[in-house]
Amino acid sequence: MKVVEVKDLKEANEKVYEVFCNQLKEKKNSVLGLATGSSPIHLYELLSKNKELDFSEVITFNLDEYALLDKNHPQSYYYFMHKHLFSNINVQSHHIHIPSGVLKPQEACDEYNDLLNQYTIDLQLLGMGSNGHIGFNEPGTSFDSITHFIELDESTRKDNARLFFNNNLDEVPTHAITMGIANIMKAKKIVLIACGANKAKALQKVIQGSVTIDIPASILQKHPDCTIYADQEALQLLK
Ligand code: F6R
Repeated sequence: MKVVEVKDLKEANEKVYEVFCNQLKEKKNSVLGLATGSSPIHLYELLSKNKELDFSEVITFNLDEYALLDKNHPQSYYYFMHKHLFSNINVQSHHIHIPSGVLKPQEACDEYNDLLNQYTIDLQLLGMGSNGHIGFNEPGTSFDSITHFIELDESTRKDNARLFFNNNLDEVPTHAITMGIANIMKAKKIVLIACGANKAKALQKVIQGSVTIDIPASILQKHPDCTIYADQEALQLLK
């Protein structure tokens, strides 16, 4: 696992943008694994602005979706991705994959896993929760997990209430569908953005601790090509 220290979230996004541009240059029909949340918003802005990038053959897989939020709900990840990226680029709608929050959970998981099994993700983008989650794989999730239905941790719901739901915890869904850790680990290349002091505790364990299901992102130590882009605030507890 490689760690690149950056000045701030903006620089982390700029560096990851370069990785995305190189990936698209190398392979027009790249399979991209995408994340939502506050960490990659600037990356999506940069990708949206560069009209020379061609996404016509690109296939995308998002990590997760809230359960029971219709895709037209402004806080659904479907809505987020279309607003920040998909509506601004020439990706083909049938190449976009996001788990369904409204199908019966088992049906949604099976459908997504079947799709994932047909592809290999070339480049997987990740953010990380303050509890060390990747996707919505909360602490305790098995490293062998594939797409599954999960109850969100209280800390995750609080983080997301603060960032996206006007601090209204009651409005944050209690469950989600997420790609599993085994799905994520199959990606050829992984980039993770972790910025801000609220990520420091988990990030220290991810980088310097042992590989444990208590800190899901610690499994990335075992990935052959994973780079973490982190700022000083997130790296402050490194020993
Ligand atoms: C989002 C996702 C989550 C977020 C994580 C960090 O699709 O899978 O793991 O990446 O919760 O969120 P932010 O970037 O808002 O700090």
